[in-house]
Amino acid sequence: MDNRKSILVIGSSNVDLIARVSHLPIPGETVGDAEYCVAYGGKGANQAVAAARAGGHVTFVSCLGDDSYADALMASFHNVGIDVSNVRRCSNVSTGVAFIFVDDGGENCIAVAPGANALLGDQELYCVLPLVAQADVLLLQLEIPIKTVLELIEKAYSVNTKVVLNLAPAQFIPWDTLRKVDVLILNETEADMLLEHPSKGMTALERAHALCSRGIQSVILTLGIAGAAVASVGIEALVPSWPVVTVDTTGAGDTFCGAFVARWMENGGNLLEAVRFATASAALSVTKLGAQTSIPRLEDVELFIQERYKNE
Ligand code: RIB
Repeated sequence: MDNRKSILVIGSSNVDLIARVSHLPIPGETVGDAEYCVAYGGKGANQAVAAARAGGHVTFVSCLGDDSYADALMASFHNVGIDVSNVRRCSNVSTGVAFIFVDDGGENCIAVAPGANALLGDQELYCVLPLVAQADVLLLQLEIPIKTVLELIEKAYSVNTKVVLNLAPAQFIPWDTLRKVDVLILNETEADMLLEHPSKGMTALERAHALCSRGIQSVILTLGIAGAAVASVGIEALVPSWPVVTVDTTGAGDTFCGAFVARWMENGGNLLEAVRFATASAALSVTKLGAQTSIPRLEDVELFIQERYKNE
């Protein structure tokens, strides 16, 4: 019998077409020395894979097109043990595709053609609402129609299912809805957008605290190589990261979210310990190229943490 908590991830799936370049092209420029590779991505799928590799029991809901990319993505979800019985293959539309440039320093820029991701809506809501009630936690991001995300949060709130929302890519969500989220995970750009004024001069902890004091239960502000700032009831803490050699930051935020949720579900709700684990997972993920190709497994993260603490 599987005693793990059930994690429901609803969101996008993409195929990432990656060009590794010496520098990111500026408008009008052709960079001719690119190395090309294909990897699996999409914020929803990356987070589902990260939660599964971190030991979570994951059900994923997503929309794919009617192309060969969809077959490949389905097979890869199966491989990591994700329940895909509610992934829909949509007719006459392509699977989501992301065009990604990654430079020598690991920085990226991304353009997404959402394809089937844009269709995740009423049909899924109708089919998966019972799943929301059964799940221990619902993990959402904003790469599917915003209306669907808002309805899912309302539903989860009404049935007491925990909600973790990653505010990426940045979009404004009404405060009434944000107050129904248990944990909000966002980066500094997304935090500045929500705080409505440039929060220059505020430290990361002050920003996390400012969001919390507007009624969000727990806020995790991810800070890249600096780690994460956490604000919650009785908690205000900066969780540092560890220095690593950065190859590609694509999907690091997704790795953080999926790993956080899996750990938080299994460690009795210890927010800070889960953030520490997620920070280590994200650090490891930037050492390899590609989103899902770089998401570490539980044992790798635990080893990484042990070794880093030994050396401190
Ligand atoms: O967050 C990284 C992801 O954003 C990539 O995998 C790409 O598919 C885009 O959705």
